[in-house]
Amino acid sequence: MPLRNTDTTFGWLSRLIHWLMAVGLIAMLVFGTVLKTMEPSFANLWMYDAHKSFGLLLFMLVLLRIIWHRLSPPPAPLSGVPLWQERAARWAHRTLYALMILVPLSGWIGSAATGISVRFFGLRLPQVVPPSAALDTAGFAAHSLLTKLLMAVILLHVLGALHRGFVSRDSSLRRITRGV
Ligand code: HEM
Repeated sequence: MPLRNTDTTFGWLSRLIHWLMAVGLIAMLVFGTVLKTMEPSFANLWMYDAHKSFGLLLFMLVLLRIIWHRLSPPPAPLSGVPLWQERAARWAHRTLYALMILVPLSGWIGSAATGISVRFFGLRLPQVVPPSAALDTAGFAAHSLLTKLLMAVILLHVLGALHRGFVSRDSSLRRITRGV
């Protein structure tokens, strides 16, 4: 099982990060939506901490993914795909990357602006912004909006991948699942 990507295939590290992030993002979207319905209290404070810690972990994973793709570029898009599909996939991938960065950042800024220090699995992080009611409101408004957009783009991405795998029957889905 090769570690590195080639011109036509994904190596195991890219595939591992892809699937860890896929499961992690969907779980966090559900977790965050449930959290939003709760009233913060001492009893559920650990849930907020867990959401922040796993969200920051996903943020690190996307940074690792970007660095890895600089060191080992992913394969080129498949040839023979209709132009509109190729453009839609490229647009979806770029939007996904932007959202995978902006969603945790907005949550981090909103959380830090409340004045309560953000912890990463117990480790107190530096205060990224000063306590501010305006930043708290703006950060969480952005977090809320961007997570909705992320849900929509993930849905489009999954539908596109399933269409490629089961209707067009090209190798797109196979190369990110089995790497061949
Ligand atoms: C990729 C990572 C993340 C995802 C997918 C995610 C997802 C979500 C979602 C869907 C919500 C509910 C939003 C709403 O319906 O208005 C939420 C709320 C929240 N998120 Fe995140 N989040 C992520 C990262 C973070 C990070 C890194 C932090 C802070 C360091 C954070 C802090 C919060 C807090 C405190 C809430 C509750 C807001 C409230 O109750 O008003 N999130 N998140």
